[in-house]
Amino acid sequence: MHYIIEGGKKLSGQVTLSGNKNSVLPCMAAALLTEDEIVLSNVPDITDVDVFTEIFKKLGIGIKRKKDKIYIKAKKILETELPDELVKKLRASILLAGPIFARKRKVSFTFPGGDKIGKRSIDIHLQGFKSLGAIISKLSDVYFISKAKKNPIKKIRIFLGEASVTATENLILASVLSESKITIRNAATEPHVYDLCKLLNQMGAKINGVGTNSLKISGVKKLKGAEFRVSDDHINFGTYAIASAITNSKLKIICDKNTDLEPVIEALGKFGIKFDWENNGFLVFSERIVCSEKIVTNIWPGFPTDLMSSTIVLASQAEGSTLCHDWMFEKRMEFVKNLIKMGADISIIDSSKVFVKGKSNLSGHDFESSDLRSGMALVLAALIAKGVSTINNAELIERGYEDVAGSLSSLGANIKMS
Ligand code: EPU
Repeated sequence: MHYIIEGGKKLSGQVTLSGNKNSVLPCMAAALLTEDEIVLSNVPDITDVDVFTEIFKKLGIGIKRKKDKIYIKAKKILETELPDELVKKLRASILLAGPIFARKRKVSFTFPGGDKIGKRSIDIHLQGFKSLGAIISKLSDVYFISKAKKNPIKKIRIFLGEASVTATENLILASVLSESKITIRNAATEPHVYDLCKLLNQMGAKINGVGTNSLKISGVKKLKGAEFRVSDDHINFGTYAIASAITNSKLKIICDKNTDLEPVIEALGKFGIKFDWENNGFLVFSERIVCSEKIVTNIWPGFPTDLMSSTIVLASQAEGSTLCHDWMFEKRMEFVKNLIKMGADISIIDSSKVFVKGKSNLSGHDFESSDLRSGMALVLAALIAKGVSTINNAELIERGYEDVAGSLSSLGANIKMS
């Protein structure tokens, strides 16, 4: 699958944010913790959700989709072995280990797949499971995790070596249905972790400290059904804001007022992008894109790594120079070689830092998208490039962005998918 984009069109109109990919997946995983029905709304139409749905069906779990809602009923979980070929399609598949472990006392899986943006170890997950009293073994490339037979440990403290998002979520999912009191310190605080905790508390879990990096969980015996709206995608918000600025357009981004967008608005605001709230969304525009001197990825509420690639495209259109630094994933910056081919003036300092000088005129090219976020960044670059660009491997982009060609076309871009 590929996108063919002719650059140079101004955008106008409005776009509605879809639900957060990295929130809907852990929320779907939470549904495995109860026999009752969980109904999730604002579910994005993306292929990562389709892969999770396939895995659920293989585990014998009832799941159906109607428009933006997903209905999940895990009356029974028939399998404790996660299907290898599907697990390898996305990193988030590891999130199913926590709830299956909690409900069935055992689970097995192979190393999860996903974007090739760095080493992406799972040691913090495994260490956390051990602290919860699990026995872990590995045979060829399959991990086996099971609950020890002896009495459960009453009080457990887990300190995460890094504030890993999926490790935090996995350990929350493994802890809420238990007989222990569990403290997780240095927990990740991303909006998706917040969503997961909110849903679980609605299901009857007892999680204190939600939204902070110190979570106190009192395990409960049973969880019940719930209806929950997945929060809007803050990365998509940043992506459309950048699309608006670089095409010198004014867009309205319709979103829920409660979506936590502050860290994104603060960082993009430094480039001169303006955000005005009007009734049901933000009017986004910029009179002049200026450089931001330095932009550094951080854990939430810092600047999100998932927006770094698109921000480099923004920096290439700013007056002046911006240092872009992403220490989290050592391969995040590899895609800039494609922007350089298009005419961007970027010096690669090392695997985590690039120095971007604006403003460059870009020209169209043919590319292979290598991961979800850098693929979307190339789409943005193609929107302003002179001539036609082809972005192959668009499947990777469709993993996390809903209807890219349809949404951008409706705003006036010349983009086709085939
Ligand atoms: N890390 C370890 N050991 C672990 C886990 C992580 O050393 O056991 C390190 C990683 O190597 C990395 C850092 O911790 O340096 C952060 O990794 P993290 O575990 O937080 O990343 P993740 O949980 O695998 C999630 C998102 C990513 C997003 C990161 C950071 C999901 C499904 N994925 O990944 O999203 O980049 O957090 O915010 O929630 C994306 O959506 O495109 C994406 C890659």
